Amino acid sequence: MKQSEAKGRIEKLRTEIEEHNHNYYVLNNPVISDFEYDLLLNELDTLEKKFPEFRSEDSPTRKVGNDITREFQQYDHKYPMLSLGNSYSKEELMEFNSRVEKASGGPVEYVCELKYDGASISITYRNGNMVRALTRGDGTKGDDVTLNVKTIRSIPVKVKGELIPGEFIMRGEILMPRSVFDRLNEVRKKEELPPFANPRNAASGTLKLLDSRIVASRELDCKFYFLLAEELPHDTHYGNLKEASKWGFRVPDSIRLCRTIDEVTNFINNWESERKKLPFDIDGVVIKVNSLALQKELGYTAKSPRWAIAFKYKAEQVSTKLLSVSYQIGRTGNVTPVANLEPVLLAGTTVKRASLHNADQIALLGLHLNDIVYVEKGGEIIPKIVGVDHSFRNENSREIEFISYCPECGTELVKNEGEANHYCPNYLHCPPQLKGRIEHFISRKAMDIDGLGEETVDLLFSRNLIRNYADLYDLRAEQLIPLERFGEKSVINILRSIKASLNVPYSNVLFALGIRHVGETVAKKIAGTFRSIDDLIKADYDQLTGIREIGPKIAASIISFFADEENLSIINRLKEAGLKFREEAKTNTVSGKLEGKTIVISGVFQHHTREEYKEIIEKHGGRNTASLSGNTSFILAGTNMGPSKKEKAKELGVPLMEENEFLILIAED
Ligand code: IVH
Repeated sequence: MKQSEAKGRIEKLRTEIEEHNHNYYVLNNPVISDFEYDLLLNELDTLEKKFPEFRSEDSPTRKVGNDITREFQQYDHKYPMLSLGNSYSKEELMEFNSRVEKASGGPVEYVCELKYDGASISITYRNGNMVRALTRGDGTKGDDVTLNVKTIRSIPVKVKGELIPGEFIMRGEILMPRSVFDRLNEVRKKEELPPFANPRNAASGTLKLLDSRIVASRELDCKFYFLLAEELPHDTHYGNLKEASKWGFRVPDSIRLCRTIDEVTNFINNWESERKKLPFDIDGVVIKVNSLALQKELGYTAKSPRWAIAFKYKAEQVSTKLLSVSYQIGRTGNVTPVANLEPVLLAGTTVKRASLHNADQIALLGLHLNDIVYVEKGGEIIPKIVGVDHSFRNENSREIEFISYCPECGTELVKNEGEANHYCPNYLHCPPQLKGRIEHFISRKAMDIDGLGEETVDLLFSRNLIRNYADLYDLRAEQLIPLERFGEKSVINILRSIKASLNVPYSNVLFALGIRHVGETVAKKIAGTFRSIDDLIKADYDQLTGIREIGPKIAASIISFFADEENLSIINRLKEAGLKFREEAKTNTVSGKLEGKTIVISGVFQHHTREEYKEIIEKHGGRNTASLSGNTSFILAGTNMGPSKKEKAKELGVPLMEENEFLILIAED
């Protein structure tokens, strides 16, 4: 490669890798496999070594990824959190062993551990008590997620035993068992929330939740693998981990002390198949030099220790032919490309289709029709295409072009800035959207009209009896009885269950409306703040984004939904039909201590959840609002309150009240 070419390639690789870092660490949504990522990183590393004139301190080869988010307070790591060098073959492992043996001047003892695929955590203990838990962050500083970590049962908040240093740091990996992940995604799917791509993303997404109660409910686990302190109890890694397990840390039983490199390879080979029996994902094995003295001698590169290496297993992969791409239109108009594949056996199931997510993904893979593609099934729900076997590429085949028009109604597709998905804007007439909205409306978590099902909706739709969900409430027996398949009994059943839906609470009705990006949880939050649909219709952008769960995307979607005359007229018909469009008062007043006070809740709390505080405020006659304004009496401020909110409060002269102070205020006689 020429120098000029290398420069261009290096720049391209750097941008691409940074983008993947962002997808992985910040968005928790990787679009390529770890293996592909490592290939890119390796290519960059090789080029930088070959053309040192283009080296840069900012290169991703010199930095670890970054998971820092704005909502949490950040603290410096006492000892930086580094990555591990990766190897994919026994040759690379042997090279590592030669380097280490050369430094030591003889055979070396290793500790073999499983490489857990979760979110790393660094927990400081002082005098046996947990004082702070930080995420990896950028390796130098991380997010303080102590409150969340304290909810994880397998992590001790206090430790007891002998030889415990006054201050020490324990590092490990927070994991979500596969069964918990599957359940969580089921729920997210029903709530129309994007599913987590794999248990790793789910674990790290959970760690970054602001409500510790939800964290507690997600049954995370933790495996510990690294003890750090100024003075450690033993002079070997193995000795220290075994010691820490006596103090109460869950150090995995799988760790092995290996006296030869053959023992190391046995460990690797054994776990390659055994790993499938584990309740959570591992993506390889970590091999560490046991002696701390030798570790010190070997030292570190900018990114990783020279005394350890990860041996990564390849995800199970097969290749097959890409026959065609079809496009599905969801109820909100979202377009999802799906690859139709020549059926192939993968990890015990026959795979015929693979998700392609969106146009960016197709472009990233550079897919052509009839390509032989690699299909992988990691922790993901549906298999995905991870690459193309270029040796089979037909010279004449053309790259797949994403469709520009809706395959169902012919309307030109739209792609919003900053969103990866195309969607069909023909909200009013695109059949799958119309039908999809009605199906969503009747679903269990929405209006729960169990007398109707997808097939009946299909039939009623095709007979022009329903065009939108308000039409359901105008259905009459004499329209239904003539339809084939419908006996009198089933007609009565349908009409009865439609009528019963009038009792469904307001938050379900809000969810049922099918506003883009408003899932079940968001609908509940909205109903708690805008206690009637008329309040919500009037709400402006600032008021909406004042609710923590509502970002710009959801707010814009709500505003545009209610700006649509057709939607308003449907809502009016639903009101006339008698649906609940108002939150029922459920709290009994306890005192008038907060009478006339408008209170914003912000941050994370120790004694009650945010929801509970909202109720407490109302019980004492106060009003809880989401958005901060000149009318706010004070902010009930927990920890981790965002810096921008603090700044705004200062500007507006709104005082902050701490949790304990508030509890005293309402407790006083
Ligand atoms: S030791 C300085 N041991 O892998 C070395 N890391 O790629 C510190 N990981 O950030 C890490 N299992 O999140 C170590 N048994 C294990 C591990 C492990 C998983 C993760 C960890 C680390 C990443 C490095």
